[in-house]
Amino acid sequence: MHSEQRTALVRPRDEGGPAAATAVAHPNIALIKYWGKRDEQLFLPRTDSLSLTLDIFPTTTRVRLAPEAEQDAVTLNGSPATGEARRRIIAFLELVRERAGLSQRAVVDTENTVPTGAGLASSASGFAALAVAAAAAYGLDLDATALSRLARRGSGSASRSVFGGFAVWHAGRRTGTGTEADLSSYAEPVHAADLDPALVIAVVNAGPKAVSSREAMRRTVDTSPLYEPWAASSEDDLADMRAALRRGDLEAVGEITERNALGMHATMLAARPAVRYLSPATLTVLDSVLQLRRDGVPAYATMDAGPNVKVLCRRADAERVAEAVRGAAPGGSVHIAGPGQGARLLSGGGR
Ligand code: PMV
Repeated sequence: MHSEQRTALVRPRDEGGPAAATAVAHPNIALIKYWGKRDEQLFLPRTDSLSLTLDIFPTTTRVRLAPEAEQDAVTLNGSPATGEARRRIIAFLELVRERAGLSQRAVVDTENTVPTGAGLASSASGFAALAVAAAAAYGLDLDATALSRLARRGSGSASRSVFGGFAVWHAGRRTGTGTEADLSSYAEPVHAADLDPALVIAVVNAGPKAVSSREAMRRTVDTSPLYEPWAASSEDDLADMRAALRRGDLEAVGEITERNALGMHATMLAARPAVRYLSPATLTVLDSVLQLRRDGVPAYATMDAGPNVKVLCRRADAERVAEAVRGAAPGGSVHIAGPGQGARLLSGGGR
């Protein structure tokens, strides 16, 4: 455990006004994917996954306890949260209150900097920031491992955004439920040799998802004949990925990243009925990535629960890669990201 990653209590609740805390977190992109839960209540994954936390598109969240309020008040980018987004945030606050032994409601204000409608998930940065801010506001003194477990309960991938750089999320125990299983599943940083990586993000379609990742995972695990073979090969991919990161071998990291993602999408394509997130524009960008490689530029693609493509490359090649994918997806937008920091408190803690 890294002592600097411990979060601290906000000032005691009996000193002055209600407790409040503000935290920031960044999205992460999985190089070895999380796809499939073994416990939907606890957000326990079927497989280990590994990601890179980005240095762009932070989410900043402020949680202030509201002793007089009867309900939680939640805003997202200044507007009241509604529907599923509101339900998930309130369920998360309930979990924090239960742990803290407190019943006070909260005011939660979240600012997401992911361009509106960019089609990039903000749940990882969102729940990582909420975990850090809510834990601090409710006076829970959690270390980074415990924060990662907590963030996991909001969105599985959020467990990884607690950490900066490369992080592995352990699936933990493969059987059983309850406390033991919960404790066994958390993320931690992975040391990588000097890779100087960049992820070039090609937003090809800003529309809403046809199928939520939750539903798509469930359907894949339940019906896809390719799911178990992919899950087994993903464990091998992780071992290979760890070795490639240790060696600082960007080509190997990229090859493993691309095959793991294409395999994940294959599991979905074989689900019944099929889940297909990849669009014609996705394939055009994939062709441009192949062409880059033919031209001698190490560039490797990965896609999540949507049509957008993230291209792993060397930082020094990022502009060239961005130009190539921009040409392939003229209607979209292209962003260059590097490795970013883990979730942290901005205010309201530090004791
Ligand atoms: O956003 P979540 O926690 O429902 O899961 C998303 C899963 C993928 O983005 C497709 C893969 C991953 O590991 O992030």
